[in-house]
Amino acid sequence: MIELYLDTADIEQVARFNQCLPLRGVTTNPSILARSATGLSRLLPALASELGPAARFYAQVVSTTAQGMVEEAKQINQLPYDMVVKVPATETGLAAIKQIKKEGILVLATAIYSAQQGFLAALCGADYLAPYVNRIDAMGADGVGVVADLQHLINQHGLASKILAASFKNTQQAMDVMKLGIAAITLPVDVAQQMFAHPAVQPAVDQFSKDWHEAFADKLSFES
Ligand code: G3P
Repeated sequence: MIELYLDTADIEQVARFNQCLPLRGVTTNPSILARSATGLSRLLPALASELGPAARFYAQVVSTTAQGMVEEAKQINQLPYDMVVKVPATETGLAAIKQIKKEGILVLATAIYSAQQGFLAALCGADYLAPYVNRIDAMGADGVGVVADLQHLINQHGLASKILAASFKNTQQAMDVMKLGIAAITLPVDVAQQMFAHPAVQPAVDQFSKDWHEAFADKLSFES
């Protein structure tokens, strides 16, 4: 089954969607944490208490040197949760990923804007690859196409990396990459909400209620 994540630091929204979706965990990035003014030391315990001990969390390094990223990754990995360390797939980041993998730490290569960039991160041993679908689209390129090419490269070369597609503005982008058979996806709260939001659904349910009450008043189905 595809691993489904929410890309947010909003604990209430995580609790809400955890009621109705099989969430594998939560992804964050430095901008998400900064916007919410919530650090990992407050966020992670709250998320773990909502999602339970099996949940997986993603935290990004903010160091700017390879050695700094490696040291930061070790610290993140020591947190008492199932952590995946996010590292930008830059030249420096790829150098860090190679070293971090020698430590046996789970790594996601992030900020992927092209298939070749993701492919290099996969060759360096990244466990997950995060192509930024909407940001690629917003630059006039083809985000879904990049994910398709990257998945093709992974398959052709027998690599173990999993695509965890990120950056979505609408459900069509999410559906298009899920149709490619990717292993994982992270949705922002508004796009997760849109997944339920077909305008015909509630009127259909309301009509069932109306018909039922006209015929059977307050009886339940098995009492009719
Ligand atoms: O975590 C990185 C990715 O999810 C970015 O999404 O919406 O800022 O393009 P967005």
